[in-house]
Amino acid sequence: MKITYYGHATIAVEFGGKHLLFDPFISGNPIAPAIAIDEIPADYILISHGHQDHVLDMERIAQRTHATVISNAEIVGWAAGKGLKGHAMNHGGKWNFDFGTVKYVNAVHSSSLPDGSNGGNPGGFVIWNSARCFYFSGDTALTMDMKLIPELCPRLDIAMLPIGDNFTMGYEEAIIASDFIHCNRILGIHYDTFGLIKIDHQHVLDAFKARGKELVLLPIGKSIEV
Ligand code: NI
Ligand code: MN
Repeated sequence: MKITYYGHATIAVEFGGKHLLFDPFISGNPIAPAIAIDEIPADYILISHGHQDHVLDMERIAQRTHATVISNAEIVGWAAGKGLKGHAMNHGGKWNFDFGTVKYVNAVHSSSLPDGSNGGNPGGFVIWNSARCFYFSGDTALTMDMKLIPELCPRLDIAMLPIGDNFTMGYEEAIIASDFIHCNRILGIHYDTFGLIKIDHQHVLDAFKARGKELVLLPIGKSIEV
């Protein structure tokens, strides 16, 4: 599986032969001007919650790629109003797609849509097939619900967790979350985009290392193979 970081919480994953794109927010990201948004492939666009910094480029990318939007029922309904295809889920449910299984899991956050519509409740995704399993938490606090993931899902190879604090958990809680989910390899998201969530990279990398964990901080536009 190949993971590409497009800044903020925008992640692309090549998984099971499909292009998955999470929480597209590129055109509004002041530190991602070099990303060619109209060249990003997508078969599926997965939306964790309704906030602007997670849905801004959903419509633009889905109109071009004809990607299917996967999210909660409220957000998929909102996308359908824009003529987009969708697959609605809700918390605790899973579905077998052509690339693998998706489980929509709890997040502790809020989820209004940019036009004020109800974005339902925020969530995250655990996704697996016979080869790999990963967790994209979306915006969330540290929550005891994360302890359910190792009970219900295959062993995680990597997890994308927010580390920027203020609007989500900070890196200290992401370290605890990595214990809760039994995954020592974390890809940081939701940091540096604006002043309130800027982090000291070396300090945070060292904090993970001191706990025997690996934090990956990808430069915007860069990829890793997992
Ligand atoms: Ni949010
Ligand atoms: Mn956010």
